[in-house]
Amino acid sequence: MADKIAVEELNNEQASAELSRLAKELLKANRLYYTQDAPTISDAQYDALKQRNSEIEQKFPELKRDDSPSDKVGAPVSETFSKITHEVKMLSLGNAFTSEDVAEFDTRIRKYLGVPTKDMLLYTAEPKIDGLSLSLRYENSILIHAVTRGDGEVGENVTNNARTIADIPQRLNNAPDIIEIRGEVYMGTADFVALNARQEKLGRKIFANPRNAAAGSLRQLDANITLQRPLKFFAYAWGVASTPLATTQSLAIERMQDMGFVTNPLTQICNGPKALTTHYAKIEEARATLGYDIDGVVYKVDDLTLQARLGFRATTPRWAIAHKFPAEIAHTRIEAIEIQVGRTGALSPVARLLPVTVGGVVVSNATLHNEDYITGRDSKGNLIREGRDIRVGDWVEVYRAGDVIPKIRDVDITKRPDNSKKYEFPTICPECGSLAIREVGDSVARCTGGIICPAQAVEKLKHFVARGAFDIEGLGSKQIEMFFDDTDLRVKEPADIFTLEIRDKNNFTKLKNRDGWGERSADNLFSAINEKRKIPLNKLIYALGIRHVGDTSSTLLAHNYGTWPTFIDAMNQAKDQTGDVWDALNAIDGVGSVLATALVETFSKPETRAAIDRLLDQLDVQAMTQRDTSDSPVAGKTVVFTGTLERMTRAEAKVRAEDLGAKVSGSVSKKTDFVVAGPGAGSKAKKARDLNVTLLSEDEWLELINKTG
Ligand code: IVH
Repeated sequence: MADKIAVEELNNEQASAELSRLAKELLKANRLYYTQDAPTISDAQYDALKQRNSEIEQKFPELKRDDSPSDKVGAPVSETFSKITHEVKMLSLGNAFTSEDVAEFDTRIRKYLGVPTKDMLLYTAEPKIDGLSLSLRYENSILIHAVTRGDGEVGENVTNNARTIADIPQRLNNAPDIIEIRGEVYMGTADFVALNARQEKLGRKIFANPRNAAAGSLRQLDANITLQRPLKFFAYAWGVASTPLATTQSLAIERMQDMGFVTNPLTQICNGPKALTTHYAKIEEARATLGYDIDGVVYKVDDLTLQARLGFRATTPRWAIAHKFPAEIAHTRIEAIEIQVGRTGALSPVARLLPVTVGGVVVSNATLHNEDYITGRDSKGNLIREGRDIRVGDWVEVYRAGDVIPKIRDVDITKRPDNSKKYEFPTICPECGSLAIREVGDSVARCTGGIICPAQAVEKLKHFVARGAFDIEGLGSKQIEMFFDDTDLRVKEPADIFTLEIRDKNNFTKLKNRDGWGERSADNLFSAINEKRKIPLNKLIYALGIRHVGDTSSTLLAHNYGTWPTFIDAMNQAKDQTGDVWDALNAIDGVGSVLATALVETFSKPETRAAIDRLLDQLDVQAMTQRDTSDSPVAGKTVVFTGTLERMTRAEAKVRAEDLGAKVSGSVSKKTDFVVAGPGAGSKAKKARDLNVTLLSEDEWLELINKTG
């Protein structure tokens, strides 16, 4: 049998047979690793098969198969995890950096709830673990699946890997029938150091920090690898719960312990914002000795009824905040200042740095924000860094806060070289040579090249395929750059992505025959693209990358217009920026005139519009599933609140009414369905009577909306 013959001794025929056998074996091993429904070969055996395969390929390059297992090396492991939609979205947290921010958080909440200044609110305070969040679903006390956060809506199914973590119970005590426990997977500092030492010995990847090591270990195709990695888990939140866990956050944490989870011992109940910052100081002091990385302290309103009343903004809860530790800083030199052109044409200056380690990560770039920032001014024209400008050759203080791109805090002008010159911000786009213009009141210079600017086009495409937009598996920034420049593949605008497969059929050199590609990977890409022809309206609007139109506003627009034809029709009618349709666009809560203008301007530019029309020919846009208000008695109704509300604040009343699908208006007209009048209501209540509009007391209103819960 050829599998016993040393590589040097193989003849052509045997080598070909071996490559075929190895491809099959490795594929099978991968499948088994993935599904874990049968015993798998060991890690070492797997590596040996892979090694033999690549040695044969090196000796017989002409025999390399289209489906070669080596082409899969370095492919993101995540490609093979299945996706699971979170029944309750996984949110992130707003940030506070100072005690003032914390006091404001407390004031904001008390205002919203109408709690008088003299009454303190109880919060819990607990460390913010620097790991990755995971949602564990248990049905009848048995672990059903474990899903990563992903984009908050859809995550990766890492159940087999999660099962290897000792802190994650397979079975719960005394749990609701259905419960999703959420928490942080992390790696202890000592375990991280030991893992890197082992990795180095084996010539394998070194992790930059415990968080990356934890993420890399959890998102392993091979659960046997995860098993060897010392991961831990702290439970701190929950998603779906068939019965309430408790009445307060702190009791819910105790309940999670009773069910079998590990919770953080530094969790404490605090009375008011002062107590919060005191506990913060205590945790900050203990930080270095905890044995795991934390990057701040999380504060949550303790009373779960109040949490429910406070509810959520688009991606963060109103009832919680993360008080972050100050960022770590380092000193280094600016080697060059380069200009990057973004998808909306913004010219962003980036400092290329002498590489330096900041908080365990090597940093070689930092953002310089814009022209004013380099000159030493903020967006309002006030001096920053006492007016010190930033130049090439300067020594600077660099800092990193969270995962964002590093920033420059200050410059040490005592170390400035004598011959240094002030940085001159370009007035033409470095990518396409068009004029770059800074409009009055705008802090950013923009390339006026529009779609003739290749940098804008490429960045728009990258945004189009990114997470939150089309999110096409296997089509990331790297592939976009390759396809954009390729004279055969020619992906110059979004529509070209969807015609890629059919155009590729007629090309002389097919995608599957290119470096780094094979039949399988090309087919996978085409099917990933085809899968996304069906796209929800909000993702499509977001993907177009229109200035000022982010994730939240795209969703607002999509909810408002429901379908693509309705939306595009409105854009056509609003293009002159007058008339009812324009007014209605501006009246959407959360849409301002800046956004509305950017939106209609985009759709009225002939070339841009033509490109969007070409894209739409390729798509099947899904109508927006309206928020489920089908059993809401006030869906589609217009409500006016007037007088003093006693059981909730105005802000809360508005949010709750809108959540139930009602429109809240400030003035009474014939179109008003309900006027909710508290004590002291005056002219509005009178007008309601005059117009025969239903007048309700606050209690009657609550009774009406609470019918559905
Ligand atoms: S609570 C609805 N508590 O921080 C709020 N999050 O920046 C759910 N995190 O995605 C989060 N420690 O991954 C909460 N004690 C803690 C946490 C914590 C770490 C992470 C979590 C979340 C991120 C938000």
